[in-house]
Amino acid sequence: MKIIIKKDYEELSKVAASIIGDELKSNPNMVLGLATGSTPIGTYNELIRMHKEEALDFSKVVTFNLDEYLNIPYSNPNSYHYFMEDNLFKHINVKAENIHIPDGNAENVEKFCIEYDKKIEETGGIDLQILGIGENGHIAFNEPAPTLPLETNITELTESTINANSRFFDSIDEVPKKAITMGIGSIMKSKKILLLANGEKKADIIAKILKNKVVTTHIPASLLLLHPDVTIIMDEDAAKGYLE
Ligand code: PGA
Repeated sequence: MKIIIKKDYEELSKVAASIIGDELKSNPNMVLGLATGSTPIGTYNELIRMHKEEALDFSKVVTFNLDEYLNIPYSNPNSYHYFMEDNLFKHINVKAENIHIPDGNAENVEKFCIEYDKKIEETGGIDLQILGIGENGHIAFNEPAPTLPLETNITELTESTINANSRFFDSIDEVPKKAITMGIGSIMKSKKILLLANGEKKADIIAKILKNKVVTTHIPASLLLLHPDVTIIMDEDAAKGYLE
């Protein structure tokens, strides 16, 4: 596992975007795994800048998002469909038909989950997956649990995640309690993974993972210790506990 510590969020975002940009230049058809949340917004802003100022080309890129709330209208700014359009897709030249986001409104969600994994496989698998990390160690919506499904699945959000995500909603009651998430196996199959973490709130979980060197499904991100090509990029605040 490679660890990069940058001074602040802006520097972290620039490094992450430049790694993605380099990968994209060497493989214009790359399959890019995308995340939502506050963490990747700076990276997306930098990718947008690179597209506008440096002609970074997304025309052949295929994207797969990690997750989406269940039964949320996509006109809701808290839906991940809305988030991705607003924070990235409408600003770059990715083709609409190459974008994949779990469909929390699918008629048959179970069937959708199976097809989502199939689609990822058919494209040859994810070349580079961007991940954030929850304060409880979740990746995508793979929440701490005694066991974790490998494949894309419907999951219940934990109280910790509902609390953390309530900052985006008018009230905690409005936070959806269920979501579709790529499973741990789907994520671990990615050829390369970039895990981004910023801010003091992430310091404890990062320290636990990097210092304990133990894998447990109770900290889903700890499973990344088993992946052959993971880079953690964090700012000094998130690295505090690790550096202590
Ligand atoms: P955040 O969420 O980027 O908003 O902190 C990360 C996550 O929950 O995976």
